[in-house]
Amino acid sequence: MRHFVVIGQRATASPDFLLVDIPSTSGRLDVILRALRAALLVSHGVRRDTTVYLVLLGGTRAPRCVRIDGSAARYLRPDERSLATLLKKVLATESSEPGFVPVRTGVAVASGGLEAVLDVLPDAPTFLLEEGARDLRDPALQLCDSVFFVGDHLGLDAGVRALLLERGATAVGLGPVSLHAEDAIAVLSNELDRREAGALG
Ligand SMILES: C[S@@+](CC[C@H](N)C(=O)[O-])C[C@H]1O[C@@H](n2cnc3c(N)ncnc32)[C@H](O)[C@@H]1O
Repeated sequence: MRHFVVIGQRATASPDFLLVDIPSTSGRLDVILRALRAALLVSHGVRRDTTVYLVLLGGTRAPRCVRIDGSAARYLRPDERSLATLLKKVLATESSEPGFVPVRTGVAVASGGLEAVLDVLPDAPTFLLEEGARDLRDPALQLCDSVFFVGDHLGLDAGVRALLLERGATAVGLGPVSLHAEDAIAVLSNELDRREAGALG
């Protein structure tokens, strides 16, 4: 199983953004939506072995987290507007229940920030994607069945980085170039696919 946690430092946790101008009205939720697509969707399908957590730290309803479970989610479409529409509906949900509350099949929302995700993540190897860190291709790294934290266009907040490292996460890098979050996830997913297929050992 793969778990991705994408942290949007300013991405809105409110449904009041404009579908016709997502980047300017949502704290760059577009970055998070593309990361979601990269992590969960492949050509003509959904990665059923993958769960994605979106940590939304911007807007008046923040902090909130959305979980999309690839093993259960239905009718996910790869275009940004469709995913934005899904998020809009999910974020319009009102709930005071603790923890992740199901909104539709395979999709749930929680009040709270990163701690809401840390509470439910499996006990699995944890990595944070970081430019310049130890090369992901190091064969000693056991990457499969793991949790991966990814930053947005602003990167990972220093406090979050420190917390994750303190909890035993390993920082890994994907090469010398700073990538967009969705591209970093695509490169990582390809590495995982190849490892799982036995191509990289
Ligand atoms: C656009 S980058 C963030 C750039 C930001 N200026 C910074 O300093 O972190 C978005 C995220 O993708 C991941 N990422 C991008 N390039 C990477 C690389 N070469 N190695 C590992 N992770 C990378 C990191 O998680 C990063 O926080």
